[in-house]
Amino acid sequence: MEQYRIQGGNRLHGEIEISGAKNAAVAIIPAALLVNGVCRIENLPEISDTETLLHILRSLGAEIRMLTPSSVEIDCTRVTWQNADYDLMRKIRASYYFIGSMLGRFGHAQTTMPGGCNFGVRPIDQHEKGMRALGASIDVRNGFIFGEGRLRGAEVHLDKVSVGATINIMLAACTAEGKSIIRNAAREPHIVDVATFLNTMGADIRGAGTDTIKINGVPALHGGSYTIIPDQIEAATYMIATAGCGGEVLIKNVIPKHLDCISAKLREMGTVVEEYPDSVLVRSSHPLRGVSVKTQPYPGYPTDAQPQITAVLTQARGTSIVTEDVYEGNRYKYVNELRKMGAQIRVEGKTAIVEGGIPLTGALVAACDLRAGAAMVIAGLCARGTTWVEDVHFIERGYQDFVGKLRSLGADIQLVELPDRPLAGDATA
Ligand code: EPZ
Repeated sequence: MEQYRIQGGNRLHGEIEISGAKNAAVAIIPAALLVNGVCRIENLPEISDTETLLHILRSLGAEIRMLTPSSVEIDCTRVTWQNADYDLMRKIRASYYFIGSMLGRFGHAQTTMPGGCNFGVRPIDQHEKGMRALGASIDVRNGFIFGEGRLRGAEVHLDKVSVGATINIMLAACTAEGKSIIRNAAREPHIVDVATFLNTMGADIRGAGTDTIKINGVPALHGGSYTIIPDQIEAATYMIATAGCGGEVLIKNVIPKHLDCISAKLREMGTVVEEYPDSVLVRSSHPLRGVSVKTQPYPGYPTDAQPQITAVLTQARGTSIVTEDVYEGNRYKYVNELRKMGAQIRVEGKTAIVEGGIPLTGALVAACDLRAGAAMVIAGLCARGTTWVEDVHFIERGYQDFVGKLRSLGADIQLVELPDRPLAGDATA
């Protein structure tokens, strides 16, 4: 069983490189199924979600050639829609992108209901709405999603701003017959990245990054090369960690515009953030000010950086208010873990009221999901004493070399392999 062991109190100094965007990569890999030819993809994040999706593509008959740990050649010329590895599919949420890419390529789709981080209900009704509008029949039964139909262009007005549904409909529409329009589309940087990847492979998509995306269907997509953008949320995580621990860190290989909301919030808290063409410098040298944070679809404050900033707000002066406005369910399961470290946080529905200025003390805590896990590491770095974080496999899903990058900045963190704890009541305990 792997855990992180963290000795808190070190300030962070130095510079790190940000890896490729996870939420772009987990859509671009399934999108390669649409391409009749060889896709060369650079700047893939080296994380378990990337490996899982490449394995699923391989199970469909794709030829996968890793050129370096972060670049791959994918040849989907001879793929079929049968024999997907459903055990892998049900592990991650992004497997739903195979609905759009399988329908676009084969006119058939069979995937599992998506897995992924379990905070609140995460329906896929907007995905279904989009596929049906494009002419597919969608049937959900026994934990599987079945799709069938020759796709024709259509207009889809999303009832809720959804990253996944926006991308999935884009995937299905790019080889549908005729024109499609997605209204009330999500505008995240990774949506633009997926659209740019598809256009590089011969699709005709305009308006990605706005709330209206227009797609002219083309008969087929051809091979090509593409480099994935830097990960906005990975960068945000290190910016917030620096603010919480104090110190000065240059975060390289970023697109500063994608971080505008994070930079603005950290400046509001009293942190210095300097922007350069492809990096940001974060400097934090005195107690932070409490603030209010409300998560919103891009370009608002990202929900995927909500747990991390809540952990740091426990150390800021005054009371802070965090409102989770993207997910209906409560994305605050990690608050109980922070309370084990002494945090004073009250959760009322979508809102967390954070009492600042109370020092955290090290404890044994769990990573409830990917971003909650990152928040627990940040809390451990800010806390007095030793913190043990378990269930770190969640973190490894979405952060490349998290421990290595933090150690390079002076954090006292290490990955520890512990014997699996005997189950309670285990005779050999
Ligand atoms: C993507 O999830 C990301 N995951 C999430 O990141 C991220 O939190 C989320 O977008 C919002 O930015 C991937 O890209 C793999 P949504 P997704 O559809 O697509 C509701 C991480 O940590 N909704 O934008 O599932 C939904 O319940 C992960 O990297 C519907 O109601 O998110 C939520 O309240 C965690 N019906 C809201 O919309 C639908 O059909 C936004 O969800 C789809 C979504």
